[in-house]
Amino acid sequence: MDVMSVKNAMSESLGRDVVFFDSIPSTNSEAMRLAGLGAEHGTLVVADSQVGGKGRLGRAWQSPPGLNLYFSLVLRPKVGLDRVALLGLACAVGIAKGFGLSIKWPNDILDGQRRKVAGILSELECQDNRVSHVVLGVGLNVNQAEFPLDLPNAVSLCETHGPLDRVRVLTDVVASIEYWCQQVESHPAGVLAQWRGHWVDRGREVRVGTRVGQAIDVREDGALMLRTQDGVEAVVSGDVLRTFQDD
Ligand code: BTN
Repeated sequence: MDVMSVKNAMSESLGRDVVFFDSIPSTNSEAMRLAGLGAEHGTLVVADSQVGGKGRLGRAWQSPPGLNLYFSLVLRPKVGLDRVALLGLACAVGIAKGFGLSIKWPNDILDGQRRKVAGILSELECQDNRVSHVVLGVGLNVNQAEFPLDLPNAVSLCETHGPLDRVRVLTDVVASIEYWCQQVESHPAGVLAQWRGHWVDRGREVRVGTRVGQAIDVREDGALMLRTQDGVEAVVSGDVLRTFQDD
């Protein structure tokens, strides 16, 4: 994977401006920095490896070279703060649909054995209570056949699809993310419906932090709705665990 192969393969409006690095601390941090300097909607920051890859909830995202995809998209969406979380959900739909995968709230991409294939980290900059820009960062395991012991639940697309051309996967995934992010502006209910259709824990009993309840829905603002003993509660961040493994 190199800058010319990525640039030549991109035809959609997301990805018309490509910034490529062999190695970088974090494509998300770079995309946020470029967006702050005025980078256009659709700027795509891609790296072959990251040395400070960021995951959700302050975790690290291991990003070895030559195997996977690490990229971040700069968006300047025409949506309010109340709906901006839908972009992360749309991104998850875009990835899950292409490979027949499932989604765990808020936007982890899982295979049929509940193993993690991809993660999404969205970052947001606001000005005067309006969305200035959003960065959607995607780490997608493509050709990594073995993972370190501290990642027992990770898997790559290659396990089911065989070795894949990363540039081809990138162009397909970016095109799909573009479509679903556009739908956030024109048809937000459709995005939520698609997200629910891929939702692995829909209707299940789950635990998020100290809260236990039935996962009944996700809202437009991205909150997970849990029916607990105390009533219906909105959860805005955390990790979802099944209370028992039943499949
Ligand atoms: C998660 O914790 O599931 C989210 C992981 C997001 C990782 C990607 S890799 C590309 C982009 N740059 C980063 O530093 N993080 C995101």
